[in-house]
Amino acid sequence: MIGSANLNIMIKAARKAGRSLVKDFREVENLQVSTKGAGDFVSKADIAAEAILKEELLGARPNYGWLAEEGGEIPGADPTRRWIVDPLDGTTNFLHGMPHWAVSIALEHKGEIVAGVIFDAAKDEMFFAEKGAGCWLNESRLRVSGRHRMIESVFATGLPFAGSPHLPSSLHELARLLPATAGVRRWGAAALDMAYVAAGRYEGFWERGLNAWDMAAGVVIVREAGGLVQPIDPEGDILDDGAVICANEPIFDSFAKVIRG
Ligand code: IPD
Ligand code: CA
Repeated sequence: MIGSANLNIMIKAARKAGRSLVKDFREVENLQVSTKGAGDFVSKADIAAEAILKEELLGARPNYGWLAEEGGEIPGADPTRRWIVDPLDGTTNFLHGMPHWAVSIALEHKGEIVAGVIFDAAKDEMFFAEKGAGCWLNESRLRVSGRHRMIESVFATGLPFAGSPHLPSSLHELARLLPATAGVRRWGAAALDMAYVAAGRYEGFWERGLNAWDMAAGVVIVREAGGLVQPIDPEGDILDDGAVICANEPIFDSFAKVIRG
């Protein structure tokens, strides 16, 4: 597919940051046996990847704004456009030597996500979408799955970890959902969870307590693959609330009914 100039900039930046992370990931796999662990090394890898993305994205579009996990927010001369970037989504997986993490880049225009790239560099899977131009995985067009029966459907979520206030709601949601479905996965990278909904690998995904950079790219990727993406609170705002639910269209209402209770 031939993308816009902005999409090409995003894909090139994701590849470059992904290459740097893959190199560091090989090192992390070797560090697993050390007692000190790989924590410092991984935060350096994360910061280096963000620096690459900043150079590529703001280098090409110096007037856009910037919001990223490590470096915070920088207002742009053009207040209508900003990059929303997670250099390494799935940091805990990366730290533990598990090859399930991604670079995530979104472009926001007037409050709407208009382009997204999620690059799983370890598996060389580039998910990307632009508003109105469809969703792609490498050279193939993506569509959400057609499954419409809850009992045949697989869902994903992010389970709370230490310090999260969302344990009670998560446990209630799981208690309602698990008996009604073919299973729930927790793979530890929200950006890839959304990309997998777009690819029809899961039927749906929900999570609370996310940041805008975890899911911004996923919003346009799922929508362009034909899926629905909403805030968990129907009156809320996806990026501000950090609580998202998405699924293929046929399953969305049944799934959302269970999650919203
Ligand atoms: C995390 C991952 C994880 C989700 C967390 C996020 P990070 O992002 O997306 O799946 O459950 O809430 O913070 O820290 O690996 O970039
Ligand atoms: Ca993240």
